[in-house]
Amino acid sequence: MQPVKVGLLGLGTVGGGTISVLKRNAEEIARRAGRGIIVTHASARDLDKPRQFPLDGIEILTDPFAVVNHPDVEIVAELIGGTEPARELVLQAIRNGKHVVTANKALIAIHGNEIFEAATREGVIVAFEAAVAGGIPIIKAIREGLAGNTISSVAGIINGTTNFILTAMREQARSFDDVLAEAQALGYAEANPAIDVEGIDAAHKLTILAAIAFGIPLQFDKVYIEGITDITIEDIGFAERFGYRIKHLGIARRMPEGVELRVHPTLIPERRLIANVDGVRNAVLVVGDAVGPTIYYGAGAGADPTASAVVADLVDIVRAFTTDPGNRVPHLAFQSDALSSEEILPMEEISTAYYLRMQAVDRPGVLADVTRILGELGISIEAILQREPVEGAKFVPVIILTQAVKEKNMNQAIKQLEALEHINGTVMRIRMDPLA
Ligand code: HSE
Repeated sequence: MQPVKVGLLGLGTVGGGTISVLKRNAEEIARRAGRGIIVTHASARDLDKPRQFPLDGIEILTDPFAVVNHPDVEIVAELIGGTEPARELVLQAIRNGKHVVTANKALIAIHGNEIFEAATREGVIVAFEAAVAGGIPIIKAIREGLAGNTISSVAGIINGTTNFILTAMREQARSFDDVLAEAQALGYAEANPAIDVEGIDAAHKLTILAAIAFGIPLQFDKVYIEGITDITIEDIGFAERFGYRIKHLGIARRMPEGVELRVHPTLIPERRLIANVDGVRNAVLVVGDAVGPTIYYGAGAGADPTASAVVADLVDIVRAFTTDPGNRVPHLAFQSDALSSEEILPMEEISTAYYLRMQAVDRPGVLADVTRILGELGISIEAILQREPVEGAKFVPVIILTQAVKEKNMNQAIKQLEALEHINGTVMRIRMDPLA
């Protein structure tokens, strides 16, 4: 049988990885899919750019629409990222009756509802395993492996770049900017790395995970998003003194009042497996009522790991070529007419414990003022630490760990603390989660 012909959009980190993995493992892949899978066409903005992967046998075009519209191309792999022109390219591929593989989390999180509707109408598959957690087959695990469960939560490290940065800050006390530059050089970061460090990439991925875990529509605009740019080496050190690690987490949790969807730095107990997931690795904890807690771990970014997921999707599509579209695995795990409208909770209504760090004047009565404000708002203190003053310094750091309280009460407390005469500047707040 003839090999299946793939048109690849984008020859960056993931495109290059996909070409390399398809070549390297061609035989194994054909044994699995029942046919060979080859890239016959590709698009790239710059045809002259030197590349480290083999391009023989591939017709390279500058216009991605020429690939999408090429009659020989059977599957389009969209690996350019960003929402436009990726959205229009994917919709055009669908209109042309071609199946699509994409690694584009922003595209799926923001335009997935529209894209899946179009794909279902045309009877084609849009596969997106590579969009979440790089090489970890988390989409397949939740959508298919856990299909017998009612899933109560999905939480974990879903951005490799931020985990790489936080790990190097903790282990090597390296500066944020220095480590970010290394993550960029290694091909982990997005074209605009602010998307990583400000938490947006993790929010895209969390949107997708929540949809396939709970059977809700993709609702990126409802995710609470905070990045890691305010985290200091000092905070990482204080967290360690209390037995915690700071990780950038995505958390989607079903509560009786509604669904929590949030992305932010989080203190987690250092004995948890996820607290020990370092570098570019991702890990996702999924809790189902039948299976209990399960953890998925592996490389969350990089050329070959992401290509591993892209190629798995290509194999899946080839195997499904002749299946009746109505009998395929639904794009978002649940039948599209069976999605639930569970409310997404606003951040103010969510309860967590908190780590607070403030700069206080070292004088009697200051701590009493701080604890009075917390007490009046019903906030219980779990632990408190005041660092010995450094000679000549005007302020001493005070760190407080609280018990769980609604975010709106904590917002009020922080406002009052920052208004105290003997508290300098802003209060640093990091949420805590037992991940139990
Ligand atoms: N920039 C992303 C990350 C790439 O660092 O996780 C993988 O999606």
